[in-house]
Amino acid sequence: MTKTQSSGWGSRVGLVLAMAGNAVGLGNFLRFPAQAIENGGGAFIIPYLVCFLLMGIPLLFVEWSMGRFGGRYGQHSTPFIFDAMGKAPYWKYFGVFGIFTNIAVAAFYCYLESWALSWSYYSVAGTFTGMSQTEVQSFFVNYIELGTSHPVIFWIICLFLNTWILSRGLSGGVEKVAKIGMPLLILFGIVLAITGISLQASPGGAINDGIVGLNYLWSPDFSSIWSFKVWVAAAGQIFFTLSLGMGSIHCYASYLKSKEDIALNAMSAGWMNEFVEVVLGSAIIIPISVGYLGIEGVTNFVSEQGGLGLGFMVLPNLFSDWGTFGIFAGVMWFGLLFFAGITSSLAMGTPVMGFLEDNFKIKQSTGAWIFGGIILLLGIPCVLSQDAFNEYDYWAGTIALVIFAMVEIVLFAWVFGMDKGWKEINTGADIKVPGIFRFIIKYVSPIFLIVVFVGAIPSILENATKATSVYGWTARFLLVGLFVLVAILVYIAKKRQGSNPYPESND
Ligand code: ALA
Repeated sequence: MTKTQSSGWGSRVGLVLAMAGNAVGLGNFLRFPAQAIENGGGAFIIPYLVCFLLMGIPLLFVEWSMGRFGGRYGQHSTPFIFDAMGKAPYWKYFGVFGIFTNIAVAAFYCYLESWALSWSYYSVAGTFTGMSQTEVQSFFVNYIELGTSHPVIFWIICLFLNTWILSRGLSGGVEKVAKIGMPLLILFGIVLAITGISLQASPGGAINDGIVGLNYLWSPDFSSIWSFKVWVAAAGQIFFTLSLGMGSIHCYASYLKSKEDIALNAMSAGWMNEFVEVVLGSAIIIPISVGYLGIEGVTNFVSEQGGLGLGFMVLPNLFSDWGTFGIFAGVMWFGLLFFAGITSSLAMGTPVMGFLEDNFKIKQSTGAWIFGGIILLLGIPCVLSQDAFNEYDYWAGTIALVIFAMVEIVLFAWVFGMDKGWKEINTGADIKVPGIFRFIIKYVSPIFLIVVFVGAIPSILENATKATSVYGWTARFLLVGLFVLVAILVYIAKKRQGSNPYPESND
């Protein structure tokens, strides 16, 4: 390929790696294993794969098409991509989710990413050497309870890195990081996955071979077909891991030329994410943890400490049993998490920058610093309290994704229309998209999404009325405030548009 728009992608490889980097994130290595364990191992895998085929792949085609469509009209964020596609005045307000979610997710995600950065530093510094399991656990608790200044220092470094890379633009910043970060991540992932699977039980060491953990996940349990909870968890994981329902795929795709392939690119990035998640993601943390703690031990740990604990509290201790290789393993594991995280959080900044540039003529570099400033402010409650972190994760990282995806697929298939939509998907396609996806996008995915959403309403209401601390309430108010603020900006931007808001670009 071919050079794209000047503020766009430098090469096809760069685009696919950036898109894969957007998808591959902490979700693949921390959230996927935790979800699998919480949902009974093999019980999770069938719903997960079905959700990938019936929602993940169709939505990838839809979001890439919508993005490229918007780019043709000079729009790089969803409020006005939806406006151009939907014609009715309210669609742009649904598009607000595509800005809101990115900011709100980035606010807690960058903090989590900074843990990976600091844990990489501690691994190099040998901080965990000789610590027992309980000591690593106390170290972690002390860290998140701000018993030291490190969480704040590493968080600020992390925010600065994100903002600085974003300020260098797509090809100059994001693409370069993806080209370095993704190969390194896959290399580290493969080494650790081989280590995980080949773990051998030994006296005084692991109690199970690594393969026991792998079997636990990959022995399908058909009883889960009847569990609504498992389906909701699987659907949520597919959204989170593929970065669907966020608005970041639309933004990356909007920098493509109007006849450039999206079908093969979407599949390359999506399948790369699934390789990293189901092959590497399942072959590291689960085999190693089950190897040392046993299935019951891991399940108990996750239910008591939450899924993140395995990555940060259990693995450092296990690595320290491995001598010198353990130090490398620690650096690789946390380095991998950091690369995975930053290539995703960068993608969350770009729709905000695109929105400000398209509608308020704010330069991308300035937009990057504005984004950095907002996530710094919104991130403060997350640093101060796990309650705020959980509120952001639930409302922005789960519910908003489902609502947005449900709305966008209806807009694409039923309002924009499947004839035009199918033509968009196939324009410039380097592969033949199987015709069955036309049917799936029009009927199966929307029905599936509506069923998942409606089924989740009781638990949404329960969560909305659940008591929380002052930090949890602050987070809720900030989220509502953020949504309203973006909606007001969209309203103002619309007022500023001329009579021909969507002139077609001539690329
Ligand atoms: N898709 C990103 C992840 O999995 C957000 O972490």
